[in-house]
Amino acid sequence: MSSKKIITERNLELSKDIDKRRIPQHIAIIMDGNGRWATKKGLPRSFGHNKGVNVLKEIITASKNLGCRVLTVFAFSTENWTRPSKEVDYLINLFGNVLRKEIEEIHSESIKIKFIGDLSPFPETLKSILQRAESLTQNNQDFILNVCVNYGGRQEIVKAAKEIALKSFTGEIKASEVNEELFNSELLTKGVNDPELLIRTSGEKRISNFLLWQLAYSEIYITDVLWPDFNEVEFLKAIIDYQSRNRRFGGIESLSNESFEDSYCS
Ligand code: FPP
Repeated sequence: MSSKKIITERNLELSKDIDKRRIPQHIAIIMDGNGRWATKKGLPRSFGHNKGVNVLKEIITASKNLGCRVLTVFAFSTENWTRPSKEVDYLINLFGNVLRKEIEEIHSESIKIKFIGDLSPFPETLKSILQRAESLTQNNQDFILNVCVNYGGRQEIVKAAKEIALKSFTGEIKASEVNEELFNSELLTKGVNDPELLIRTSGEKRISNFLLWQLAYSEIYITDVLWPDFNEVEFLKAIIDYQSRNRRFGGIESLSNESFEDSYCS
């Protein structure tokens, strides 16, 4: 993974349409479609996951170069255990191998890597690779890569609720003190702002138990492109689409109170 810009004519052209002052600072990605990509090519699903790793590397570099600060990717959901054990084992080995191979470069790029989810069911060898990667990169400042593994949004919310209930039971906090800020501080993503943009590849129009709390106001970009075919050009298209949105957070950006009365009460 290198932070060198991958300049092609197409992404140079698209870069001109991007407002550098409005780059989403936190982007979440559901990297979907690895299996379908491989099957369409008559290949085993594992080929899709391998190609998916290369795409992830390209997108980390592209987002860092663009000025985004945090990328949160869904690599393995709590539901993924229901896949055939061969595929689960393949993915677990892939995570370990990729990290072993790439961690020094990730570190040299000043990327802080964090694994979000319940790591307890993973084999000890993988757990120690993940822990080493986190501790090696913990002081890096330029970019945060959150990799969600054995992650589920509902499970995360239940865990936060349990922590809060426990703190209330022991008197550490009062029930009246529970608010969104406190709840946020019990989530696995504590300390980072919510994603402004969610990208989902492969055309499915679902959130699939990903960052349920954090995506409350995120813009959602869905593309039919399968994750192994996703690239910097597709990524820039998502940013351009995001920048065309009018983010109102439930309000009405273009109307002041006065103009509301003019428009509706005359
Ligand atoms: C979804 O495609 C993808 C996954 C379940 C795995 C994603 C993992 C990677 C891209 C590797 C990441 C590696 C590291 C080290 C973080 P799918 O298998 O659900 O595809 P399908 O919907 O077409 O079956």
